[in-house]
Amino acid sequence: MNILLIGSGGRENALAWKISQSAKCTKLFIAPGNAGTANYGTNVQLDPNNHDVVKDFLIKEKIDMVVVGPEEPLVKGLHDAILADEKTKHIPVIGPQKQGAALEGSKEFAKAFMMRHNIPTAQYKAFTPATLADGEKFLETLKAPYVLKADGLAAGKGVLIINDLDEAKSELRQMLSGKFGAASSTVVIEEYLSGIELSVFVLTDGKSYVILPEAKDYKRIGEGDTGLNTGGMGAVSPVPFAGAEFMKKVEERIVKPTVNGLQKDNIPYKGFIFIGLMNCDGEPMVIEYNVRMGDPETEVVMPRIESDIVDLFCAVADNRLNEKSIAVSNNTCCTVMMVAGGYPGSYNKGDLMTGFDKVKDSILFHAGTKLTSDGIVTNGGRVIAVSSLGANKDEALAKSYANVAHIEYNGRYFRRDIGKDLDKYYQK
Ligand code: AMP
Ligand code: GLY
Repeated sequence: MNILLIGSGGRENALAWKISQSAKCTKLFIAPGNAGTANYGTNVQLDPNNHDVVKDFLIKEKIDMVVVGPEEPLVKGLHDAILADEKTKHIPVIGPQKQGAALEGSKEFAKAFMMRHNIPTAQYKAFTPATLADGEKFLETLKAPYVLKADGLAAGKGVLIINDLDEAKSELRQMLSGKFGAASSTVVIEEYLSGIELSVFVLTDGKSYVILPEAKDYKRIGEGDTGLNTGGMGAVSPVPFAGAEFMKKVEERIVKPTVNGLQKDNIPYKGFIFIGLMNCDGEPMVIEYNVRMGDPETEVVMPRIESDIVDLFCAVADNRLNEKSIAVSNNTCCTVMMVAGGYPGSYNKGDLMTGFDKVKDSILFHAGTKLTSDGIVTNGGRVIAVSSLGANKDEALAKSYANVAHIEYNGRYFRRDIGKDLDKYYQK
């Protein structure tokens, strides 16, 4: 099969690595990819939001399947455009159509979906500029901290957690008057959930599903989970506080009602569902849905999957995922994300990277890198994820950190405490 993978980050590098191992994969293209994805296929420059250009490419290269990494092209209807064209509608797309992508594209839609299908989540109300005063009153009925969410996609910055009531009201006003553009013309205010977070991943054909390995990611820039939010600084899979009993609750209370809910609402859905969960004293609550895999979670999930991922994708395409199960390694996989100095604020691009030849026992998943005539240079805030498998977390982390030490570039930064918060959960 010829496969086109859309995206350019560490997630796509991990997907490309896994897809390229499939006996079913003849040719893999990555659009636009990065210096790492070029090891597993051919990088091509295609704007995923220019649907005509993508469709022409599908026809010209006789593509048999499209796998979409990020949410934006899905929310903007790439899958719908491929389906709407006689010449491309036979090509399966892994990633939902616009309607299903609204689970991530609109927080209000996602919350209403969860309420409709009795899926445990924080209580909420949605407000628009016309109901600003009601929003302020609603805040007064809640206890701090206050959780304000821009309805639409806001590049991961649309969620604010605020301790002070007056500040929360002021933020609500700013959001409704365009702080995040159209994305915050509706704002969801919800109850604060306290607990510990994890990411659960489901692959579905819209009827049946398989649950992929779960993971925990580390969102803050600073050690001890301090400082600004980032795209993710590291990840660990499996998650020790997500034992069989907890995961059973997740499956019965969240995964099944989600897939059944999509069917009841007549929403076709082929692709990944990433469920951001809070473990609140052993009870799972949904924080958010994403319609894609997580990044950097994919960099620890893919290495643990032993099944052929393209075989699973084909089953999704043909509505026979019910025939499949997924084989998962018992090993632990950890990844440490190396970032550019200054990230998530302003940072340099174009710094030469060295030390790749010294790396052993880890898998390098490039995030923001580019191949130039001088060699591989940094090309983003998150630069490269160093993933390792081990018999346990400490063994996996030791390999990753040993290899992180080999990779050099100006201003490199990484967190030294990935997975540390999990230590207490391993004790019997
Ligand atoms: P999101 O952009 O929806 O992933 O939200 C960003 C982060 O905000 C999440 O990963 C959580 O850490 C936090 N968060 C979102 N909603 C809540 C909530 N209701 N209670 C506590 N934390 C939340
Ligand atoms: N790691 C969280 C995300 O991909 O949204």
